[in-house]
Amino acid sequence: MKATSVVLACFWLVTCGPGNNGQSPGTQDLGARARGEFSPLPATIATEANPLTQAKTRLGKILFYETRISVDGTVSCARCHPFSMYAADGLKTSVGNRCSPNARNAPTVLNAAGQIAQHWIGNRTDVEDQAKQSVTGAASFGMPSITAVEDRLSQIEGYRPLFAAAFPGESEPITVAHMAEAIGAFERTLVTPSPFDAYLSGNESALGEKERKGLAAFMDIGCASCHSGTYVGGETFDKFGIDVPYWEFTKSEKPDEGRFAVTKKEEDRYVFKVPILRNVARTPPYFHDGSVESLETAVWIMAKVQLGLDISPDQRGHILAFLEALTGKLPEDALKLPELPAADRR
Ligand code: HEC
Ligand code: HEC
Repeated sequence: MKATSVVLACFWLVTCGPGNNGQSPGTQDLGARARGEFSPLPATIATEANPLTQAKTRLGKILFYETRISVDGTVSCARCHPFSMYAADGLKTSVGNRCSPNARNAPTVLNAAGQIAQHWIGNRTDVEDQAKQSVTGAASFGMPSITAVEDRLSQIEGYRPLFAAAFPGESEPITVAHMAEAIGAFERTLVTPSPFDAYLSGNESALGEKERKGLAAFMDIGCASCHSGTYVGGETFDKFGIDVPYWEFTKSEKPDEGRFAVTKKEEDRYVFKVPILRNVARTPPYFHDGSVESLETAVWIMAKVQLGLDISPDQRGHILAFLEALTGKLPEDALKLPELPAADRR
């Protein structure tokens, strides 16, 4: 080693080398900045409107797997949101009863309950509303009416005690509103703490160097101006393709008018809910129409169409490493299949 290198190395140790806590200077600042933009996941996403009880979340989990409330007996929530695949189905767009095609890609239900609204265009207010409308949705369960679903549930003898325990004191516990409340309660338990949560809670070494560089880039270039908060998204709506049509980059077969379908306001054309990025590395393909298979391409497209930036392969690599650190631990109970109540022998 030449003398100049020794001097440089000493200089590096003093100015950039590991400090007392084994972290390089600047890490503390990054942590503080990150805590300004994001926060760690709560233990559950309970609300006053839907307080969680064990009886309710247990029933909700069973109903999540129930296929007998679908028109052809093959559809359950778990079909399109299997936990073994981080609660998305891996298809471009989902397939419901009798092979009915869905217009959009299935997002994960993990951590989903904390968002401002549900669905890509925000046409469901919360997870309870989503569950309630799903059973009569033509491309999902396809049941002809709410009453038809209630009849099916009432015919399965084993549901009586389960609904009665979850909704004590109700004269008619078996209703679709209660079904939706129970499924919603179960979904409110589906949180997946990740290395990023450990980092936000003060464990600076929970993220490696590449992941920290990715976090810094994510904030510096403006990804966090849309994907922020506890869920790294899910808080706002924004146009997909700010200055350029998104489909020129996604190669989507046909443009989706987005939130315009809900509000009929011109400014909502091509506007979608900013999706949560928790577990995003495990839920390809990407975007509302599943048009992009690789996360790296999705990140490149985002920089291009949302921020007008061409990001370097290095920056892409760092951001990918950060997104990977958003992969959390699945709730242990969610991975265990529930036992479904037996049908009445009559
Ligand atoms: C046929 C497949 C299919 C079935 C069955 C299904 N879903 Fe979905 N789910 C989807 C698709 C596709 C979307 C996106 C719809 C959209 O945005 O237009 C979605 C969206 C959601 C969302 C919104 C997530 C977000 O980030 O906006 C939640 C929550 C959800 N489903 C829960 C459920 C529950 C609970 C059930 C059972 C009652 C269910 N799903 C049944 C395919 C399915
Ligand atoms: C101006 C707001 C905005 C900015 C800035 C932004 N995004 Fe997005 N992002 C969105 C919206 C809206 C969508 C949904 C697009 C659609 O309809 O599929 C999205 C979708 C995504 C997806 C696909 C998620 C999925 O589950 O399919 C990824 C990944 C993503 N963004 C990452 C990033 C990264 C990385 C950056 C920074 C380079 C970034 N975003 C910047 C608004 C934004």
